[in-house]
Amino acid sequence: MNSILEAATRASTTGNMQVYSIIVTSEQQIKEKLWEAHFRQNMVKQAPLVFTFCADFNRFNKWCSFREAIPGYDNFLSFMTAAIDALLAAQNFAVAAESFGLGICYLGTTTYNAEKIIDILNLPGSVVPVTTLVVGYPEEVPELTDRLPVEAVVHMESYQDYSRESIDRLYAEKEALTLTAKLLEENQLKTLAQIFTQKRYTKKDNITFTNKFLDVLRKQGFMNNE
Ligand SMILES: Cc1cc2nc3c(=O)[nH]c(=O)nc-3n(C[C@H](O)[C@H](O)[C@H](O)COP(=O)(O)O)c2cc1C
Repeated sequence: MNSILEAATRASTTGNMQVYSIIVTSEQQIKEKLWEAHFRQNMVKQAPLVFTFCADFNRFNKWCSFREAIPGYDNFLSFMTAAIDALLAAQNFAVAAESFGLGICYLGTTTYNAEKIIDILNLPGSVVPVTTLVVGYPEEVPELTDRLPVEAVVHMESYQDYSRESIDRLYAEKEALTLTAKLLEENQLKTLAQIFTQKRYTKKDNITFTNKFLDVLRKQGFMNNE
């Protein structure tokens, strides 16, 4: 585990400030609480270790204050800076863990219920959880999930906007998967896109969780933007 954490801390960070922290949860009691905060996704209880990656200016702000330097990191851009650092460290961690044969899963629910996670993990001001990785020994090695063709995400020299035809072509393979047919049947919907807009990531939920997360950013001291 130390090599994996070492790999995480080798990720590039803004100005080498390393404005992130990683909270490791191994105690079952804390995992149970995190499980609630992550909408009861069972892997939180099942995984031997849960890693919460946090945007963290607390440590850096303290260092500045103790060194006669006045920190100006209580704004939204600083949150983004710290969140990017945390996410780069998380992805380094994920690649290193998989290279050792471990299985990982990201949990997007971290930002949905950030205020609960802040309570559970005792995160002080200037610290906001941005993603979580559950890590364990995989029971099986599943087949790779599908991806859009590389050309769907790469633009040479400048952005080439998508036409109706290119969208049809780039999504054709995904839409033709057996898994897609199964999802459409289960959800009684006409298109895969509707599964995203009506079931998985609805506007209503997005607005609810946006406002909750903005409250968290305010409370943790990242929204002093004047
Ligand atoms: C930021 C982020 C959040 C995610 N959140 C969840 C989650 O809450 N629950 C879950 O089961 N999978 C989650 N995933 C996993 C994705 O669904 C998964 O990566 C995607 O389906 C592609 O599969 P693959 O990673 O095996 O290629 C998340 C992935 C990312 C990158």
